[in-house]
Amino acid sequence: QQQMASQTDLIHIFNGIPFTSRSSADLLKALNSFQAREDDLLLVSYPKSGTHWLAEIMKHLYTSKVSLTSPIEFGDVSKLEELSHIPSRRIIPTHLSYDMLPTEFKVKKCKAIYIVRNPKDTAVSLFHYYRENPNLPTIETWQSYFDMFLRGEVVCGSWFDHILSWEEHRNEIPTLFLYYEAMKKDLPKAVRKISTFLGINISDNEISVICKKTSFNEMKMNVEKDNGDPNHTVCALTSNKKLIFRKGTVGDWKNYFSNRQNRLFDELYQTKMDSSHLAKHITY
Ligand code: A3P
Repeated sequence: QQQMASQTDLIHIFNGIPFTSRSSADLLKALNSFQAREDDLLLVSYPKSGTHWLAEIMKHLYTSKVSLTSPIEFGDVSKLEELSHIPSRRIIPTHLSYDMLPTEFKVKKCKAIYIVRNPKDTAVSLFHYYRENPNLPTIETWQSYFDMFLRGEVVCGSWFDHILSWEEHRNEIPTLFLYYEAMKKDLPKAVRKISTFLGINISDNEISVICKKTSFNEMKMNVEKDNGDPNHTVCALTSNKKLIFRKGTVGDWKNYFSNRQNRLFDELYQTKMDSSHLAKHITY
């Protein structure tokens, strides 16, 4: 019974969306009074879409002139005070849906970069993450997790609702959508896109250095050498950075999805993404 109690304590529901206990309800409630600054930059993602990869690229693009924070929804209510002391330019990661984003980011029209990954690979990556991460409830089988994912009952809710909320409002704040698979194929092109979006001048040579430093192997090796400052992870779900670098490949879902699961997923995808303009860019 004690075990069950601690399992349920790991997740709480806010606005209909499951959050881990690392995002306190008080903080989530207080977020709306967050004071944004015009030059704040948001790094937005559904979990396991390549958030750390994107954050690492940003660190190298800006070198020392920016402050990369932990996710805005991560912590207790003192988080707001803490963020107010961080010097500009703040790069602020978040897994929040657009509807939950503090209003001031919208009023001040802060820029956002949203990284999207094939939802089947995202689901598999999150499955492993649930399995390895003591901060998340125990998952018995791939099948039971798969059903949870389709119902949007995993942390941060439905993949579909998340991306659609950001797509729907993409003209309200300047939002650049990046695609994990396109980054795997041609990282220099993606880095060039980011620098253009942010108005950063950068040479081809500098881009190629950034791409080397942010390759999967390089990032995994660095984290294995030193697990680093636990507060410095951009992932709201863990402070253990070693859990972040698993395979870093495209198409791993094929090793997990049965034919039936694939059909169910495709049906839901078609229904949900029917009117999405982004869908044509998503590797699916
Ligand atoms: P896998 O579990 O499929 O390996 P996030 O940072 O949003 O938590 O996403 C983690 C996923 O991104 C993991 O996927 C991880 O391996 C992958 N990833 C992290 N760094 C990467 C990189 N430099 N290149 C490609 N994939 C990377």
